[in-house]
Amino acid sequence: MVTTIEIKREGKTPSRVVAGEALKLLPEVLPAGRRVVAITDPNVMALYGDTIRTHSDRQIVIGTGEGNKTLDTVGDIYRQLIEMGADRRTYIVGFGGGIVTDIAGFAASTFMRGLDFGFVATSLLAQVDASVGGKNGVNVGGFKNMAGVFSQPDFVLCDTGVLRTLPPREFRAGLAEMIKAGIVADPELFALLESHSPDELLATHELLTQVVVAAIRVKAAIVEADEREGGVRRKLNLGHTVGHAVEKLTREFNHGEAVAIGLVAIADASVRLGVLAAADRDRILRVVERAGLPVSTSGMASGRVSGEVSGSASVSASEAVVGPVLGLSAGDISEAITRDKKVEGDGLWLVVIRQIGEVEVRRMSFADLAELLN
Ligand SMILES: NC(=O)c1ccc[n+]([C@@H]2O[C@H](COP(=O)([O-])OP(=O)(O)OC[C@H]3O[C@@H](n4cnc5c(N)ncnc54)[C@H](O)[C@@H]3O)[C@@H](O)[C@H]2O)c1
Ligand SMILES: [Zn+2]
Repeated sequence: MVTTIEIKREGKTPSRVVAGEALKLLPEVLPAGRRVVAITDPNVMALYGDTIRTHSDRQIVIGTGEGNKTLDTVGDIYRQLIEMGADRRTYIVGFGGGIVTDIAGFAASTFMRGLDFGFVATSLLAQVDASVGGKNGVNVGGFKNMAGVFSQPDFVLCDTGVLRTLPPREFRAGLAEMIKAGIVADPELFALLESHSPDELLATHELLTQVVVAAIRVKAAIVEADEREGGVRRKLNLGHTVGHAVEKLTREFNHGEAVAIGLVAIADASVRLGVLAAADRDRILRVVERAGLPVSTSGMASGRVSGEVSGSASVSASEAVVGPVLGLSAGDISEAITRDKKVEGDGLWLVVIRQIGEVEVRRMSFADLAELLN
């Protein structure tokens, strides 16, 4: 059983996102008679190498982790493509998690001014978020996704079966983006995540496919309405303003965990702004906990904070304030936020929660944001 969701693209056939038992469709979605180059990482290669080799002529294996999502890696991919004699008909398939799909999409979209490409998304986060929507990019100087393009893949295969080999922590990270999708636009999805533990979701193929499809639909609908993020697509940044700052300031949390902390922080802020009921904030807190995700950075003030990404962002333990929501001081968070790429002028667009299934994008100055986070 598969479900196909189409996303319109300018001047091309729609991008097709296929969820469920999707991997077996790979031979059908790859173009016949063209050289296929797969881009993957060593973990995915170790598990799915046979499938990858069966369906591609050449393979490029990149390193794992955010530290490899760089222009250097993209340069290596270009060099390998040149060495193997790739031309404009060469087809790229990114086979892996969000790091692989972000890099593969960026490399494919820029090599020789753009090769056709598709994705097999193998992590939950990639299936419900990273691989869908056409944003591809890399980090620059430690700042996330600073160079990139909007370019939709021809297809995204989201095989829920491959999620069984995913490390549990990575599965939970994907749940954070699904919780976000539920809060943004799908109260039923949110309720399903409230009533099932991660283990229950993984144990039932139909249920897992149902929630993955629901999350993809939320993203697909928003992307179709606003591909280049001029308006409604900003809603997808829910939890990410604080989340990106947390990611930037610590080594502790992966992207999904940082987003989970950001969701709780913004739910709390939304209550203080008087737009969200405290009971809904509590539901958000509980669903994050149920997913086994962190609700705050507190407890990390014992010298574990390090300025991984940009040296000036580092804070010492004594500066860190262990608050009810954020273990970092609000000042550190605000400071990191001002250097987020989503910043425009002296403020940013903050996504606040009105109720589960409805969010609002508000323009907010840094001063007001700093006060709100305090
Ligand atoms: N482009 C976008 O719109 C967008 C949206 C959200 C996130 N992202 C990006 O996505 C990235 C994070 O993606 P991610 O969480 O998938 O990270 P990831 O690609 O690092 O994958 C997580 C880990 O799981 C492993 N893995 C992947 N699939 C597996 C499988 N089926 N079985 C076993 N192991 C598997 C990977 O090797 C890796 O170690 C970040 O860089 C983030 O910025 C992009
Ligand atoms: Zn995200």
